[in-house]
Parts: sequence; structure tokens; C-alpha cells
Amino acid sequence: MPQNVKEIFSTPPPIVHNQYETVRELFSKNVVPSYGRFDLVLSHGMGSYVFDVGGKRYLDLGSGIAVCCLGHASPDITEALVEQSKKLIHVSNLYFTEPQGRLAGEIIKRIGPGKCFFSNSGAEANEGLFKLARKFGHDEGRFEILTAVNSFHGRTMAGIAATGQDKVKKGFEPIMPGFRHIPYNDLEAARNAISPATVAIMIEGVQGEGGVTPATAEYLLGLRALCDEKKLLLLMDSVQCGYYRTGKFMSYQRILEGVPGGEKFLPDGLSMAKSLGGGFPIGAFWVRGPYADLLGPGMHASTFGGTPLACAVALKILEVVDRDKLDQNALKLGAWMQSELDRLADKYPTVVKGSRGIGFMLGLELVEKIPALAASDKTQAVQVVNRLHAAGVLTVPAGTQVIRLLPPLNLKPQEAGEGIAKIEEVVKALV
Ligand SMILES: Cc1ncc(COP(=O)(O)O)c(C=O)c1O
Repeated sequence: MPQNVKEIFSTPPPIVHNQYETVRELFSKNVVPSYGRFDLVLSHGMGSYVFDVGGKRYLDLGSGIAVCCLGHASPDITEALVEQSKKLIHVSNLYFTEPQGRLAGEIIKRIGPGKCFFSNSGAEANEGLFKLARKFGHDEGRFEILTAVNSFHGRTMAGIAATGQDKVKKGFEPIMPGFRHIPYNDLEAARNAISPATVAIMIEGVQGEGGVTPATAEYLLGLRALCDEKKLLLLMDSVQCGYYRTGKFMSYQRILEGVPGGEKFLPDGLSMAKSLGGGFPIGAFWVRGPYADLLGPGMHASTFGGTPLACAVALKILEVVDRDKLDQNALKLGAWMQSELDRLADKYPTVVKGSRGIGFMLGLELVEKIPALAASDKTQAVQVVNRLHAAGVLTVPAGTQVIRLLPPLNLKPQEAGEGIAKIEEVVKALV
């Protein structure tokens, strides 16, 4: 260290060894226990792999819940972070900065005419869309947003009100009014649920937390027509299923590919986060042209929204996806992995019920009441995820019966093969 730097900074405290017990103790003493964490203490990663403090290597097929789209320690992300941080990290939205404007342009290019607002997380991106919908219906006294049963829209007060799962609402009553839930993929139910107060319908293109369930093409096209007929905004939460996870930028582009009428489909609002920043926190919503100026100066804001640093990383990710054709990778390797999950269902029918999802948003659905898992009070999904940890693979449970695979978009074929082989090993032991 050069002499002058030593003079400026005082001696740092001694390095605390990130050993398992030490870290666990730090958490139990100091961190709010609001997460049911798995029993792993991770220290670093490289590409599709992460390592725990004991040096054990795991193939990360969860990507930090669909976030680390370029894997871990991506040199591209590091370069973008370093280069931008030398110029400007943050100035607030009191001023204009180039990366935010350019990122909005890149997103719009991939969706359609409209504008973007930047936030820090998925829940916050959805909050923006809820406010947009309320503003849209305000003068007519309309405010109600219909969302789907089994949906997940985040953990803010509006997010839990919007989420179609009771477990996230319990203990936080009174729940914010203005949300009702409708069965997913049921167009008739949507039509019947519309009241004079309804202003919008929000759905996920592929339900994630609810168990990896894609919307059908008929549902998407039907909702679009219904929203046009009833003057409602059609909002899509693309926080998890967006950003090339399905092989296309947005999931509806994949679901409606080749479907007559699909090429004209556009929702009115789309929220995104997760892979948008590849691990650096950033969220956004896109709003379609006619509604793009509904939120005027002073109506919505976030101090950290769209910082030059976050936007530089997000721009780099889009550049890398295009450069390395990672959309094609998600499409092709995802199809192969799904066919392998189906093979496991055929070969081990007493354990695997089938596969779910599209592209790199996949689910392995377990058969109910697997005898080998009966003794534990943990859900089957959690037990299998734990067994996969022991085998050296990270995955994410969805609901009680589904194991989610959300690999990095740059997963290599041999890594996909390794993951499937380890999943098979775990499945076979449950027969
Ligand atoms: C579909 C969906 N919407 C919203 C969220 C909330 O995003 P965040 O955790 O970034 O607030 C999530 C997170 O898992 C999600 O999957």
C-alpha cells in the first residue's frame, strides 16, 4: 500500500474469518430472523458455481432467485461497476444522467413504444404500476386491481395486498384495500370479477413463487381484449419471468410466438427487477405510450432509482446478452433441461410428477406424499432442495411440491448436464 493511502485511512479492523459458526452467530445475534434460510454459509462464486466457507462447491441453478443472469464474479459486470464508479455513482433524480436515459431506450427497444421509471427492487417496481393504475382511474373513482390466486408481487404493504397467497398477509392486517384475486388462466373468472371500481388487471407471465405456471396464449390475448373492452390497464409483473429467462426479453413474447394476433400484443405496464441488474439492485417499470406521462413531476420518486452505477451495469448486461446470444442459450439449453426433467418423470414416476415452465424458468414437480420424505415436518420441496445441497446443487423451492431451476443465462451445456445428473442422483435415492 503506498504511503499516502496508509496515512489517509486508519488501520482496518482484523479480518473476521467467515467460518460457519461465526457467521451463524452474527446472524442469530444481529439479523432480523424474517427469512427461513438454508443451512449454508456462502463465501464466493465464479461463473455458475458458488463456494461455501468450508470450500465446498455448488452448481448454482437458482441464480439468487433469478437474479445473477451472468453468473457470479462476471468480468463484464465488474468492468462496468469499476468504470462507472470512477465517473459517477449517484447524483439523485434531481438531475439528468446519460446511463438512465440510455437504459430506458434499450428497454423500450425490446418491448415497444413507451417510457420507463427506475426503482430499486421488484416490489417497488410493482408499487409504481399500482400508483399508475390508481392515477389512471382516479377521476372516475376507479382504483381496484385484480391479481391472480397464487401470484407473488412483493413484500411491501401494497405488494402483500396484491399477492394472491394468504401466507404473506397473515399478521399484517388490515390489508391495504383495492386488490382482489382471480383464478389464474381463467378468462371467464376475470370477466366476472370486474366491478365498476376495477381499473387494472395484473398478472405474472409465468407465476414463479406460486409454482412455475405459464400463462396460456389464449389467456394473454383474452385479457388484452377484455382490458380494452372495459378500459382497464393490463399490467404484467415480469420481475422473475422477464429479462430473457424464457428465451425472449419478456415472457409474453415467448408465449405468444407464432400465435395469430400475438405479434400485436402489448401490455400497458411491465415491472422488472432481478436479472435487470444481475445482482446489483435495480428495478424498473415500462409503461405503454398512451399512459407514459400519467405520472408527472412530483408524483412518484425514489432517491436511488436508476443511479448511473446501476444503469451502467444493466446496460452492460443487455450488451452481453446480445453479444453472447444468451437468449438463444436460455431457449435451447432450457428446452434440453426440461426434456431431461420429463425423462426423470418417466423414469421415476413415484418421485417426479413432471416438469413445468419454459426456457430457464423451470420447475420439477414432485409426486405428493413421497414415503421417503414422510418423516420430516418440512415441505417436500424444502427437503429435496436440502438433499440437492448435499449433492452440490443450489435450487429454489416454489410452493410445497416444486423445485425451481433458474440458472444463469450463460449456463454451459456441461454444467446443465452436471446439474441434471445430480438431480437424478437425488431423485433416484427417493424411490
Ligand atoms: C413475480 C415477482 N414479483 C415481485 C417480486 C418482488 O421483488 P423484490 O424481492 O425485488 O422486491 C418477486 C420476487 O421474488 C417476484 O418473483
